[in-house]
Amino acid sequence: MDKKNNSVIEALKMSLENNPDDTSVMAHLADLLLSSDESEEALGFYQKLLAINPTDESYIKGALAASEQLGNDALSSSYKTLLNALGHQEEQGETDSTAEEDDVVQDIGTQRVRGAKLRLVTDDTFDSDWEVEDSTVYLNDVGGMEDVKKRLHLSFLGPLQNPDLMKAYGKSIGGGLMLYGPPGCGKTFIARALAGEIGAKFMAVGLSDILDMYIGESERKLHEIFNTARRAAPSILFFDELDAIGQKRSQLRNSGMRTLVNQLLSEMDSVGNDNKDVYILGATNHPWDVDPALRRPGRFNRMEIVLPPDELARESILKYHLKDKPAESVDVTLLAKKTELMSGADLAHLCEAAVEYVLEESLSTGQTRELSTDDFAVPLQEIKPSTRPWFENARNFAMFANDSGSYDDLLNYINKMKL
Ligand SMILES: Nc1ncnc2c1ncn2[C@@H]1O[C@H](COP(=O)(O)OP(=O)(O)O)[C@@H](O)[C@H]1O
Ligand SMILES: [Mg+2]
Repeated sequence: MDKKNNSVIEALKMSLENNPDDTSVMAHLADLLLSSDESEEALGFYQKLLAINPTDESYIKGALAASEQLGNDALSSSYKTLLNALGHQEEQGETDSTAEEDDVVQDIGTQRVRGAKLRLVTDDTFDSDWEVEDSTVYLNDVGGMEDVKKRLHLSFLGPLQNPDLMKAYGKSIGGGLMLYGPPGCGKTFIARALAGEIGAKFMAVGLSDILDMYIGESERKLHEIFNTARRAAPSILFFDELDAIGQKRSQLRNSGMRTLVNQLLSEMDSVGNDNKDVYILGATNHPWDVDPALRRPGRFNRMEIVLPPDELARESILKYHLKDKPAESVDVTLLAKKTELMSGADLAHLCEAAVEYVLEESLSTGQTRELSTDDFAVPLQEIKPSTRPWFENARNFAMFANDSGSYDDLLNYINKMKL
């Protein structure tokens, strides 16, 4: 396997560790492993992907190719059967399955970025080619996070909605905003909500959209993405898992990845010069791993911490996750009191566990019933706040890297909560 491939695979694995449910990253990783003859590992990921979405043709094709490489005839013939069954369905339905879709690894046409479907285009075909799937979350669905919301209004929504007002002030607020904080506390979620508010002017860029197995290709893609954003301006470019894309160059052994960081730097600078109406939002769990050059003026010069939800926020998060469930009698206020330091993801998990508990009971008794507060007792004992270890680790980084005061909010919170 060549070095470039190797480092991309490493980066993707790292990203997957932070976001184990991210199918776009997993799919990209599986494809890369397959093309690097790591068939067994590739097969494992395709199977995970198929467990999530059993009818996705590209996953089945990947699994088929991997099992063929492994010489596992039984397995490959069952994937063939699956594929034929799918093909048959399509003939009866619409038949516009395109040739591009077959080319899993090299296709830069349609790519999935957590919920949003992006279409990268060449320079002269912009207009209708950004397909952003309707985001189903809006800022109102995001519980708590008042400070972050205020910051988003100030940095993005205000300028986008009142361009004249911004002009009147002579200059846009400019620069980029980096959200950081413990995992599961809503960085990606609030970015999606922002997309919901803004629609097609919001472009999410996942790691897997940029990283590519060919040297030079990633830089070209990054450039294309920025150009598209410039043409759509005023617009917002969102880089999730910024630490993986914009990793400290001093930590990178691989020159391919370093070039990518350089490219990101120069694109961001050129946004500042050519086009003041492209706003950049980034999110990361590890801000200390982000290249310091990315934090200079005009780049990600502002940081906003996304903290674990406070009691009121927990209450609204719990309500959000129970809103379509028969849970009227659940005492969410009490649950909110008992879930200090839980992340939004922990709370989502808690609700799922309680629902599962009731479902299982219903299956065995044949009777359905409403959720009650008691159904949360066991999950409350089993699910521990996942933010604690993050703070333990973050404290050291923040203390030693706080020369410009950028981690004041983090340190204040650590002291206040006695973490
Ligand atoms: N403020 C919030 N309001 C409602 N749900 C939330 C909130 N924060 C997190 N969640 C839930 O937790 C999940 C994980 O959050 P996510 O945005 O992926 O965290 P991060 O990107 O910070 O690691 C979300 O998909 C959502 O279900
Ligand atoms: Mg995230």
